[in-house]
Amino acid sequence: MNKNFYITTPIYYPSGKPHMGHAYSSIIADIFARFKRLEGYKVLFLTGTDEHGLKIQREAEKNNKNPQIFCDELSAKFKDLTKILNLSNDDFIRTTETRHYKSVEEIWNRLVKSGDIYLDKYSGWYSVSDEAYYDKDEIKEVNGKKISTISGSSVDWVEEESYFFRLSAWSEKLLKYYKDNNDFILPSSRRNEVINFVEKGLKDLSVSRTSFSWGIPVPKNKKHVIYVWLDALTNYISALNFPNTNDINYKKFWPADVHIIGKDILRFHAIYWPAFLLAAKIPLPKRVFGHGWILSDDKKMSKSLGNILDPIEIINNYGIDQLRYYLVKEVSLGNDGSISMENLKNCINNDLANNYGNLCQRVFSFIKKNCSNKIPKVKNLTDIDNKLLDQLKNNVPNLIKLMNNQDLNEFIKTVVSYSFDTNKYFNDSEPWSVKKKNPERMQTILFTTCEQIKNISILLNSIIPKSTNKVLETMNVKKDNISISQINSLECFDHNKELKELNILFNKIEDDN
Ligand code: ME8
Ligand code: MG
Repeated sequence: MNKNFYITTPIYYPSGKPHMGHAYSSIIADIFARFKRLEGYKVLFLTGTDEHGLKIQREAEKNNKNPQIFCDELSAKFKDLTKILNLSNDDFIRTTETRHYKSVEEIWNRLVKSGDIYLDKYSGWYSVSDEAYYDKDEIKEVNGKKISTISGSSVDWVEEESYFFRLSAWSEKLLKYYKDNNDFILPSSRRNEVINFVEKGLKDLSVSRTSFSWGIPVPKNKKHVIYVWLDALTNYISALNFPNTNDINYKKFWPADVHIIGKDILRFHAIYWPAFLLAAKIPLPKRVFGHGWILSDDKKMSKSLGNILDPIEIINNYGIDQLRYYLVKEVSLGNDGSISMENLKNCINNDLANNYGNLCQRVFSFIKKNCSNKIPKVKNLTDIDNKLLDQLKNNVPNLIKLMNNQDLNEFIKTVVSYSFDTNKYFNDSEPWSVKKKNPERMQTILFTTCEQIKNISILLNSIIPKSTNKVLETMNVKKDNISISQINSLECFDHNKELKELNILFNKIEDDN
């Protein structure tokens, strides 16, 4: 069985500081990457920055900076964010790196060789903000300004010499790929959107620019720079040392298992990217998952509305696991979702502090008082105990399936319900009332609850790694045992070892905070 897994985030434009939308995609990808590792996979998780193109060149000019220096500074902020978000990325790619140049030049040469590139002239609409070409019927006028109906960004008329990619020639092959690979584009609503677009027929795509210079030069015609999207998409294989297709990473990890992206860049990933790869005779990725928008108080975050949420500020106030949990619990992954400080507080209090956090804290302090601070060893589990444990254990295959289908919300809902049930079990079993007359029963209740805490912690480990690692460490569960396969094992505890000290996991947020 192929036990390798390759997952990517979009590479972000370092045209400004990273914001909550960037944090969101990265956290989601991190959760899936971590979960696959817990499943025993060798994972490659890639993120990075997309540094060429007119948008970046203009932003650098605005700041009176050389574009390379400008990118160095802002890319560093995105790299810092990977640490702040506690991402487990294995690599961070920048499109200004030599390894990436080599890879893009090779793709270009392959497209030339296959006859998919020709020289002509582009005249049409272009959005610098999206780095995208739009058709006449995708443009409307608002207050005397032309904007794209797809993204709402303003567009300029462009006329210049340009190389074209024969995208039109690939429509049928793309449609066949979508048909043969039902899960290539998820969620399925997005898939239909793409199919409808391709069925209308594709136009050839302008893949070089001559009116500015900040990009990778076209091999053999330095007047042109390669279109920033052809450049950017190639990052996914540059990181595997393409064109060295004998490279161990390329062999192990290509084709990618899933590209996590926002729905704004679906067209590039689900149409252009596979078409480039087909033409270059490179296998296609297995899946593109396009998530929805994070809205701030019901509106799309934008500089002009001034409602851009800063992830770093929230993390400083509430904590990283609190943010990670909230984003994936409260926003339905495929759809747009509003986030607000009010909901964030409720979520932290209800799910994390009162439910999982409280469960751990009260059980551990009970063990400290009544069992010399050691998890008791037990022989006889009753039906009630087994029922609690089995409900979770028997559902593990289904939980794995949910994660593999990127059904994160259903996964979390289910795991949180186990935590709720375990709290209830602990209350209803009243270990305090049996400790005198039936200490053995008390021990069984404590063991069962700890076993359940261990299992829930492993399941939540990819979502809130920092807190669950603390809990598992408190229980002396070895690192090697933090894996999905250990959910079925009753032997993760060292019954001779005392529990470690556990500080408050999640502070409750007071209203005036
Ligand atoms: O498009 N809600 O970079 P970018 C959810 N460089 N996700 C959001 C979001 C929001 N409000 N805002 C941004 C680019 N995102 C290209 C990508 S890939 C080869 C090149 C996330 O900096 C989401 O993943 O504009 C979106 O697709 C991405 O950031 C766009 O980031
Ligand atoms: Mg964008």
